[in-house]
Amino acid sequence: MASGNGSNFEALVQACRCGSMPAEVVLLLVNNPGCPAQARAARLAIPCTLVDHRGFASREALDAALVAALGAAQVDLVVMAGWMRVVTAHLIAAYPERLVNIHPSLLPSFRGLDGVGQALAAGVTLAGCTAHLVSEQVDAGLILAQAAVPVLASDDRESLAARILAQEHQILPLAVMLAAQRLGLPSG
Ligand code: GAR
Repeated sequence: MASGNGSNFEALVQACRCGSMPAEVVLLLVNNPGCPAQARAARLAIPCTLVDHRGFASREALDAALVAALGAAQVDLVVMAGWMRVVTAHLIAAYPERLVNIHPSLLPSFRGLDGVGQALAAGVTLAGCTAHLVSEQVDAGLILAQAAVPVLASDDRESLAARILAQEHQILPLAVMLAAQRLGLPSG
């Protein structure tokens, strides 16, 4: 599931295709028409379904549509790879222990929106990213993997976010494999 650029989605596909992750990405769900993630899916020949949140009256209704699409694709595990919508119990209950999120901060610090900006504003010298299982409390589920990066004096939001994103691409496949291992799915 992706909302924007989709670089984490592509990192997962590449991890599968280069053999470092024994899995297959069978579907991308996007909520923003025309987002770059959609074009990546086309280039990578991964089926992509648009579920535009603007067409739903509630978060629950959106999540019901997501669950239907994921169910039809018979997925074992779901990754929020840059999914910028708060999810509800409806989606979480449909994929217990099977829903992984990537967040651009060292949780439990800087939950919610703009984790990178929050880290810069707080003046921390180490920032990073966290891959975790999703629970009903936002950005608070079981931590699967983290990576830290230094915050440089010269950093602005963009440069720090780019350094963190490169680490996200490393830990997200690892976290997916750890989640699969917990479930007894093939995990390499
Ligand atoms: C990533 O930095 C991810 O951690 C963040 O959005 C970016 C998506 O990049 N997600 C969140 O902030 C979720 N709360 P991508 O579209 O290139 O994968």
